[in-house]
Amino acid sequence: MTVNDKNHTLGHAVNKLVQGGFRTPLSDYRRLLNYSNRSRHGIDSHIDLEDKYDRQIFDFALRRRLLQEPISHIVGYREFWKSKFFVNQTVLDPRPETEQIVERVLKDPSPKLSILDLGTGTGCLAISIALEKPSHRVFASDISLDAIKVAKFNAKRLGAGVNFIHSDWFANINRTFDMIISNPPYVRTRDFFRLPLNIQRFEPRLALDGGKFGVDCINQIARKLNQYLNPAGTAILEIGIGQKEMVRKLFNSHGYKQVDIFMDLERKERFVCVKKDA
Ligand SMILES: C[S@@+](CC[C@H](N)C(=O)[O-])C[C@H]1O[C@@H](n2cnc3c(N)ncnc32)[C@H](O)[C@@H]1O
Repeated sequence: MTVNDKNHTLGHAVNKLVQGGFRTPLSDYRRLLNYSNRSRHGIDSHIDLEDKYDRQIFDFALRRRLLQEPISHIVGYREFWKSKFFVNQTVLDPRPETEQIVERVLKDPSPKLSILDLGTGTGCLAISIALEKPSHRVFASDISLDAIKVAKFNAKRLGAGVNFIHSDWFANINRTFDMIISNPPYVRTRDFFRLPLNIQRFEPRLALDGGKFGVDCINQIARKLNQYLNPAGTAILEIGIGQKEMVRKLFNSHGYKQVDIFMDLERKERFVCVKKDA
């Protein structure tokens, strides 16, 4: 393949991605090319887009992308914290801001903590923490059996010791924890239908829709949280942009006196931290 052929292919694919309104066409192109390369030749070789089969794999991947499928679903994984997590349509794609929860948990100097991750999805939070702190006892739950399947697969692949529980929030949880963490669904129902097509089509509504004001799940968790926390226990939840005051009031109404809000790396107030109400 000559340099001109290569440039033509790159130009053609990138143009299509630009016309499709994709915000990062060049990086999308590179990731699809890498994926096509690995799927047929292994990591160290180079794809030859003149080759009929190589070309077919790449074109199919590009077509999926042009239909709005997330790159993570095409290539099969999404990076979070220090690992690659398998993702599919049954789980939320882990988002970088959620890594702040891992960071917060790791700041706790206690050598041995029991931790519950409510609504684990891919397992990204629970697994990342378990890999960093093998002496912690990490539990993870989800109402979706499909999500539990994905999370178990990720835990096994990455060698993380996590105990999985199928549960509607606390319904099947029968012990207490030093820490409870969660990134619950918090998108307002009417905003769900305004989300980008790639999210609406390819990510589960169950993972996103937080009801009329976006705080239904946060409310359900807050109502029961206290009885599942050990003395001096802490809970950290991700919340939506602009939900701070509503969430603070909601926790106050459930009797929590200390409700702290902290920011993500873009200085947006995205997390609530509460202590067990003694
Ligand atoms: C926003 S996703 C978070 C996934 C993952 N923890 C992350 O941060 O990427 C919310 C998760 O909560 C789960 N979920 C929704 N309703 C639930 C319920 N009633 N009980 C338990 N889990 C629930 C969804 O299946 C989904 O996996």
